[in-house]
Parts: sequence; structure tokens; C-alpha cells
Amino acid sequence: MRFGGVVALDDVSFDIPSGQICGLLGPNGAGKTTLINCISRLQTPQSGEILFDGQSILSKPPHALAALGITRTFQNLALFNSMSVHDHVLAGTDVRHRAGWIAHALALPGVRRAERAAHDRAEQLLQSLGLHGFTHRTVGELSLGMRRRVELGRALGAAPRLLLLDEPASGLTTSEADSLAQTILMLRERYATTVLMIEHRMRLVSAVCDHVVVLNFGCKIAEGTPAEIRRHPQVVDAWLGARS
Ligand SMILES: Nc1ncnc2c1ncn2[C@@H]1O[C@H](COP(=O)(O)OP(=O)(O)O)[C@@H](O)[C@H]1O
Ligand SMILES: [Mg+2]
Repeated sequence: MRFGGVVALDDVSFDIPSGQICGLLGPNGAGKTTLINCISRLQTPQSGEILFDGQSILSKPPHALAALGITRTFQNLALFNSMSVHDHVLAGTDVRHRAGWIAHALALPGVRRAERAAHDRAEQLLQSLGLHGFTHRTVGELSLGMRRRVELGRALGAAPRLLLLDEPASGLTTSEADSLAQTILMLRERYATTVLMIEHRMRLVSAVCDHVVVLNFGCKIAEGTPAEIRRHPQVVDAWLGARS
């Protein structure tokens, strides 16, 4: 993926087995967000291929992705401050339960069933994410930690098989981040979701990820288990070393 003279992703290749939580690590400007933007189809690489369940997704527009089973959160949250917590999560379920407008207009039994299912899923997600006490609050009133959970809830509303998280713990305190780590593990168990998450804190990566891919200047410099990554010489040089 090239932006003018900048090569944001250079021959990066890896697989995420179904059900795994894969961490994406690397310093600022390494190409992490660009990678998630390519998978979520907001950007289109000049060459290469992205396969989901063995099928190319490069021809899919971004709005087709949720129905396909891929949803995401954003590094800088993309929420509506005056909308309630409940409505955000319910909006996420829309893609799964939407019936045709004629069916809606006639309020066919299938539509009511689908709406009930959407509400049930939203309720269950609000519980799972510890948001049930905040259901009718508007998002603008909530702390950053809670807003990040709302965005997670909306992304999960669509029952994704692949969830892309861009720095979900950014701006959180250590204890909020630890609690988010437990939440992500619980969500994987409960909803059998595969996860690709960008995260900087090695402590969090070690707690959550099965596998880690490390980018630097748009290139993949290492991949392996969190333990392997922590002692990988190039990773220590490129990044971890620079921080300690
Ligand atoms: N829309 C864009 N236009 C031009 N350059 C971009 C754009 N998006 C990202 N880049 C550049 O691509 C590189 C990777 O950026 P990014 O993927 O945001 O890194 P990271 O998320 O790892 O911090 C950076 O050099 C950045 O300036
Ligand atoms: Mg980024």
C-alpha cells in the first residue's frame, strides 16, 4: 500500500487462523492502521491480496464487510455523542437482522422476530461489556474507557467472525486496560470471534494474544507467540529497546 512516495505496507503477509487473537505491534507510522484500513476496505492496496475464508475481499466495498462478517473499531473513536449506548449497540446488530422495507412496512411476523433477536443480542452484549448500567446514557457523558466498550459493542452487534481493533486500549489506565483484556478474552469465548488487534503494551499483548505480528516501516519484521516476540532481537532493537 503506497501513499505517493510513502510505502505504508511493503510485502506484508501473514495468516490468522480462525478463533485466534492476533496482535499487531509496531512503532508509530509502522503501517498498523493502514493494514486494518485495507482489510476493512477503507483503503485499497496497489498490489497484493486479502483473503477471508479463502475468498478475496479486495473487490468488496467497506459497507459490504459487516454482512460478510468483518467489523472494526477505530483508533480515534467513531461514535455519536448524543446517541445512547443502547442505540449504538442496536445499530451494530442492524446488518444481521435487517429485513426488506416492504416486510418492515407490513410488520410481517418475521420482522418482529428479527427485531426481537436484535434487541436480545444488544441486551446480551450490553451485559457482557459491563454497560447495562449505562444503557440509556448518551455516549458523550461517558468516560473514554466506557466509550471504547460502546464501540466494541457496536462492532460485535453484527456478530462478526473477524473483529479488527485499532488500539482498543489507547488512553486507558492500566487497570482499565487489564479489564479490557479480560473482556476481549471473554468475548472470544462467548462469540467465537477471531480478532486482529493493534496494541502497544506488551503486557496486554502477552495477556490476550495467541500470536503477534510486528511491523516496522511497513515491513513485517517478526511474528510468533508473545514470548517469542519479546526476545526477538529485531523487535528489541526496533522498538522494545527504544522504550526501555
Ligand atoms: N491517507 C494517508 N495518506 C498519506 N499517507 C498516509 C495515509 N495513511 C497513512 N499514511 C502514512 O503511512 C504510514 C503508516 O501510517 P499508519 O498506518 O497510520 O501507521 P500506524 O498505525 O502504525 O501508526 C505513515 O508514514 C503515514 O504517514
Ligand atoms: Mg495507527
